[in-house]
Amino acid sequence: MNTVGEWLAHSSRLLAEAARTEHDRESAELESSLLTAHVTGRSRASQFAFPETELSRDQLHSLQQLVQRRCDGEPLAYLTGEREFWSLPLSLAAGALIPRPDTELLVELALERLPKLPAGDIIELGTGSGAIALALAQEVSDRPITAIERHDAALQIAQHNIRQFGQGRVQLIQASWLDCIAAESAALILSNPPYLASDDPHLPTLHFEPQTALVSGSSGLEDIEQIIEASCRAGKPGCLLLLEHGQEQGASVRSLLDDYNFEQVQTCRDLSGHERVSLGYRQERVR
Ligand SMILES: C[S@@+](CC[C@H](N)C(=O)[O-])C[C@H]1O[C@@H](n2cnc3c(N)ncnc32)[C@H](O)[C@@H]1O
Repeated sequence: MNTVGEWLAHSSRLLAEAARTEHDRESAELESSLLTAHVTGRSRASQFAFPETELSRDQLHSLQQLVQRRCDGEPLAYLTGEREFWSLPLSLAAGALIPRPDTELLVELALERLPKLPAGDIIELGTGSGAIALALAQEVSDRPITAIERHDAALQIAQHNIRQFGQGRVQLIQASWLDCIAAESAALILSNPPYLASDDPHLPTLHFEPQTALVSGSSGLEDIEQIIEASCRAGKPGCLLLLEHGQEQGASVRSLLDDYNFEQVQTCRDLSGHERVSLGYRQERVR
């Protein structure tokens, strides 16, 4: 098994056999090729055009290790150190959540509504890899953008990506939610916070990702409530609050937004039709 073509056939078979889901099984060939590109530097097109290319002993050794880790369930993004979000090739490592395609909805909703918001800052809470703040920085040039992250490991990854793609427009702050933000300074607050309950049955399948990015107390709603409450202070009148959440949490999040007197409360669905992002406008002055 010395050539690229032989390796692709062999590793695709291994990945398909180890796949835990239908989606992983269908992605086996693609993943095999992406790992090969990561190690050899050869594009997927070049791999298929020149399958007779010889792999060096070191390349083969690295590839065997990576495929074994992938067969053991480690996410591809942590193995290649990269994940695309909003067309940005973000660097990634195990300290930060892997950005999900569904989260692009949060960015789309923010961009649709930004022109009608009062003047003021954009604050992204729990930035992780920096994905959401950086997507906004590609599209918005007339408002300060602040990304907040509490945990050191994620902060380092965000810092790297913000240097790379922030265009000097994203300020990164280590803090808990809105603790460091001045009263009535934000026009838009958005977050994809941790929202799984501590006994959520999906947690074992997510064990490679940081639990601090996933779990929010026994209800899954503790951080969402803290953010809603803090937004009453940090948001300007008319400030938009956008929150990503689990597909079964829409009614609970709307109810929390109502409790804190947010207006025009609604929930938007993702491409699969699941309730995914709830929003409301802060109309009143600080209570
Ligand atoms: C679900 S992840 C979202 C990461 C990224 N925004 C994304 O969408 O891919 C939640 C993030 O919130 C951060 N976090 C958790 N508690 C926090 C807190 N009290 N203050 C600020 N960030 C927090 C976690 O470290 C994690 O990076």
